[in-house]
Amino acid sequence: MNAAGMVRWGGAVLDGAGLGPGRREAWLLLRALSGIDAWLRPEVPVPPEAEAAYRAAVARRAAREPFAYVVGRRFFRGIELAVDRRALIPRPETEGLVEQACALLPRGGLAVDLCTGSGAVALAIAAERPDARVVATDLSDAALALAAANARRLGLDGRVRLCRGDLWDAVPPEARGSVDVCACNPPYVEAGEWSDLDPEVRDFEPREALVATEGWRSLYGRIARGGEVWLRAGGWLLCESAPAQAAPVAALLRGPAWDAADVMADAGGAPRIVRGRRALPPEPR
Ligand SMILES: C[S@@+](CC[C@H](N)C(=O)[O-])C[C@H]1O[C@@H](n2cnc3c(N)ncnc32)[C@H](O)[C@@H]1O
Repeated sequence: MNAAGMVRWGGAVLDGAGLGPGRREAWLLLRALSGIDAWLRPEVPVPPEAEAAYRAAVARRAAREPFAYVVGRRFFRGIELAVDRRALIPRPETEGLVEQACALLPRGGLAVDLCTGSGAVALAIAAERPDARVVATDLSDAALALAAANARRLGLDGRVRLCRGDLWDAVPPEARGSVDVCACNPPYVEAGEWSDLDPEVRDFEPREALVATEGWRSLYGRIARGGEVWLRAGGWLLCESAPAQAAPVAALLRGPAWDAADVMADAGGAPRIVRGRRALPPEPR
């Protein structure tokens, strides 16, 4: 079958699965899996191996597997990451966390990415700031294996240290009190919201990447308390949150240990990134 026929077939399958209009995704799948752009070269025959891969991919997508898992990759802030079911698919709104971290990180500074998943935030910071030292942590061995593979593929494995463990506990002890910027996108979906999530998310992405078993309030509370210990005076804590959580998370960053806390909106205008600065010591009299 030629490329246009493949896209027509795939589009109809995706329409039938309720994912319509399916033509655009079918075209994207064919291009991602075979390199053939069916709009530019509709008559080109699709080689049998590419056709088999494409048909399998359309079936997976029709079963509501996310597009990024089906093609196995995702662009995030200028880097291409391998993605699979071991870790959350990096979201565009999280790019704001990287933008802020890079803007606030001093030259040669130390950045920590708690809850790194695929390594997206840590690797994007390292790619954008070749002067930075970066530590990334996660509880999940599977996610860390994916992050390590991404670091190697991007040639960043010498610059990003991956550590397994619970939040700040995983950060090497010598970093205590000297972290310049911590960027964190923790699991923040409420357990009660699970059944309302899209099937793409609920049935395919790791639950522990989305829902904090202890509850999001407790998790952000521990992140903030750890920030008081691990950040240097004047260092920054940046947390992504759901819009409805931004104000209560910002409230955790007010008090004597912090001297600034605010919330920044994402590209869609929703409150998304909570930012707090570790208090500077008082001026000598
Ligand atoms: C929302 S995902 C974020 C992944 C990645 N930072 C991103 O933005 O694409 C949250 C990640 O936190 C990890 N995680 C959950 N609880 C944790 C904990 N207590 N300590 C460290 N990592 C944790 C999960 O395994 C998951 O990989």
